[in-house]
Amino acid sequence: MDETCSQSEGKEEMIQENSNITLRPIVLSDVDDFMVWATDDKVSKFCLWDTYTSKEEALNYIKDHAMSHPWHRVICIENRAIGAISVTPFYHGSDVFRGELGYVLAHKYWGKGIVTKAVKMVVDSVFKEWPKLKRLQATVNVGNKASQRVLEKAGFEKEGVLRNYIVMKGEIVDSIMFSVLDRVD
Ligand SMILES: CC(C)(COP(=O)(O)OP(=O)(O)OC[C@H]1O[C@@H](n2cnc3c(N)ncnc32)[C@H](O)[C@@H]1OP(=O)(O)O)[C@@H](O)C(=O)NCCC(=O)NCCS
Repeated sequence: MDETCSQSEGKEEMIQENSNITLRPIVLSDVDDFMVWATDDKVSKFCLWDTYTSKEEALNYIKDHAMSHPWHRVICIENRAIGAISVTPFYHGSDVFRGELGYVLAHKYWGKGIVTKAVKMVVDSVFKEWPKLKRLQATVNVGNKASQRVLEKAGFEKEGVLRNYIVMKGEIVDSIMFSVLDRVD
């Protein structure tokens, strides 16, 4: 069995490759675990949000956005939050058939297949939960190779490059569009 040792708040923690990954709604008491990834510049580098600097900011986000979001889950090992994944529906007119996937994982858990597994779980469930959803898409910074690989491994199709598509950390950047369609049709 391949295992990784890492330090967490002075306690040695064993992370096993075959650990059980679960998804559940976020609760306020997840805030300290949320802070682990939200305050990390390595994690926020390719994300639209800026690195969090205070617990108050994190609590406000959890209360005002994550808890009321239509589909936001924390990625857990043994019920402890190590990341998050969301599907945001497009509410404009008849665009409800389309949703945008987003995800984030605390740095010490990278490279163990965790987000790939979480994305597959979302694809397996969200089309059933939202019968109107026909397309799940993800837009990824061209430099974010790990995220592109996750989507390929989870069965998303690369559709192309969207040039000068989005402002990230103050710069207009290219994005790559990935999608998966409802398999039930
Ligand atoms: C992107 C992210 C979600 C990936 O999560 P993860 O659980 O580490 O991903 P997985 O382990 O399932 O898969 C990562 C894959 O990318 C590959 N990879 C990692 N870094 C890479 C790089 N620089 N170039 C090419 N491939 C890379 C890994 O080798 C692995 O592929 P493999 O299984 O074929 O070897 C995680 O790195 C993260 O949270 N990043 C910060 C937030 C973010 O970028 N979110 C996405 C915004 S679109």
